[in-house]
Amino acid sequence: MVLTDTLSSKFICFHLINISYKLNSTLKIELAKPNKSEMFELKSYEKFRDTEDVRFFDISINNSNFRDLVIHSGPAVSPPNDKELGNWQFYIHHKQEDNLLAISGGRTFYLVNLGWEYPFYKVRLESCGLILKIPRGTFHRSVSDENGSVVLNQAIRDKEGSVESEFKVTNSKDNKKLHDCITNLQPKFKIYSVK
Ligand SMILES: [Fe+2]
Repeated sequence: MVLTDTLSSKFICFHLINISYKLNSTLKIELAKPNKSEMFELKSYEKFRDTEDVRFFDISINNSNFRDLVIHSGPAVSPPNDKELGNWQFYIHHKQEDNLLAISGGRTFYLVNLGWEYPFYKVRLESCGLILKIPRGTFHRSVSDENGSVVLNQAIRDKEGSVESEFKVTNSKDNKKLHDCITNLQPKFKIYSVK
């Protein structure tokens, strides 16, 4: 009986320490720099004609001065996980805002910004849905659906930015705050699609 009680106490104690550790980790992450960063958002656009046979949209983003088109022919991950241990990798732009529209297929984005009130989101873009604006200073990566996806980015790049400066890859294992965030928190999930 005494032995059972002791084991049971140790078991409870272990769980309390474990819960306390998780809460502290979460607290540290959430208190990093809350509300100091611009939030991601979704942008609508004008649909001149949207019928079964013809879809005609004005998808212009004001001040966009750089465009890239990324085609995933299958369930691609961008940037890919690191080859050695499979850690998640991210892009982060300091001199560029992304404005992403899925032209076909679906793609899920993972966004981390330690300046947001909640720092970790998962956002799904579906074909001809809304445009996802990713503000400067946000870690991001994306995973396409099984059948792939085509995404157009109408970026706004500052004069100081370049392809070299804006497309460096960050391995989450080399950034403790980023790694803690994606390890200890669940992403909040949003779906941006328009019928
Ligand atoms: Fe990007």
